[in-house]
Amino acid sequence: MPQYQAVKGARDIFPEESARWKYVEGVVHALAALYGFSEIRTPVFEYTELFQRGIGATTDIVGKEMFTFLPDPGGKSLTLRPEMTAGVMRAALQKNLLGTAPVHKLYYISELFRKERPQAGRQRQFSQFGAELLGVSTPAAVAEVITFMMQVFETLGLRGLRLRINSLGGTHDRLRYREALQAYFGPYRDRLDAPSLERLEKNPLRILDSKNPDMQEIVAGAPKLFDYLDAEALADFEKVLFFLSERGIAFEIDHRLVRGLDYYCYTAFEVTGSELGAQDAVGGGGRYDGLARELGSSADIPAAGFAVGMERLLMTMEKQGLFTALTPHAPLVYIVLQQQEFAEHAMQVAFRLRKSGISTEIDLAGRSMKSQMREANRLRSSYALIIGENEVRSGEYTLKNLVTSEQTALSLETLLEILHEPVLKE
Ligand code: HAM
Repeated sequence: MPQYQAVKGARDIFPEESARWKYVEGVVHALAALYGFSEIRTPVFEYTELFQRGIGATTDIVGKEMFTFLPDPGGKSLTLRPEMTAGVMRAALQKNLLGTAPVHKLYYISELFRKERPQAGRQRQFSQFGAELLGVSTPAAVAEVITFMMQVFETLGLRGLRLRINSLGGTHDRLRYREALQAYFGPYRDRLDAPSLERLEKNPLRILDSKNPDMQEIVAGAPKLFDYLDAEALADFEKVLFFLSERGIAFEIDHRLVRGLDYYCYTAFEVTGSELGAQDAVGGGGRYDGLARELGSSADIPAAGFAVGMERLLMTMEKQGLFTALTPHAPLVYIVLQQQEFAEHAMQVAFRLRKSGISTEIDLAGRSMKSQMREANRLRSSYALIIGENEVRSGEYTLKNLVTSEQTALSLETLLEILHEPVLKE
């Protein structure tokens, strides 16, 4: 085994797989443009406090999954971003984006870091594509981000994903619910585990996330947030569901859905895939009007968004056999050199072809003509361009179609012209 291995929970993506990534990313970029979302890129690290305030100190992400470090002695603590939403909101506030236009539609494809125990579909470095709609969070806005996400899945050909959706209500609804939870869990104090006891005072909603099997019975009997929603929250939720139904987007209402981040209010949703095993969440999101204020803004900023885990998305696509038609990039032309003395001439031809936008490969290791031919076939090149003494002298190169074995002698000018003809590209 080689001396150095990639860190557990981080992985390499080799060309065959990166072709798949590029394909999925291409679909995301194209659909983002259709829906009017523009790309934002934010730094990979932020001040730790941003995530503590934004995601919530009692969440698993902040409590145990952040890669946090002190870059300078006595300096402020930094954290590798575990998600994008807090950073995007921080950037929007810092630049006063909402002061320039009332609505901003942003999207990203970004690397994230969570110190979770690595397993299939769960990594310490992973990637998400997502969108954040800032400045409006009406049912139409929430439905728009969900529709964008679902259209990406549909365009990629994914089948059988489940969209689960819930309403978490407004701040006042959750305050009443919080009291109800404290009243419910209070008598079970002696049966609650240590993290849940801590959450009982600070954030009883998070007790519902508990994975501890001994707690499941108590958790199952807890009051439901949905029963504490006021008429406005219910009407808002109904409207979101109406828009989704109108568009033929199937969903399941799940009143147990709470999400693992504290910033959500009103509609929250999650998408799961049955092919993924234990880590079955492909994506999730919701509305988060209060995040801006949590980050120091003097008022709420209505907002909604989602993020989809790229690795889990690609795993699902692979399991559903959606990549069969994808092959790594193949060159149009492979230059096959007959005598090494004409290597410079051949390289000049390769340069001219590439300058004209024709993908061209050429041997750089001085290998035999036979191995060059073998390489041209291995790369699935469409043509071999044979260059030898005769060709250099006459200025006419032999173009061999590697599928039909047909050969034609052509000048460089003619070559440049016809290799652009789609007819030849098959
Ligand atoms: P999240 O549910 O924490 O939401 O993450 C979204 C998706 O990222 C998950 O459904 C999963 O596919 C993927 N993911 C999360 N952790 C890992 C991991 N360790 N390894 C592989 N994939 C993972 C958010 O991050 C919110 N910022 C979504 C959002 C955007 N809400 C509003 N706007």
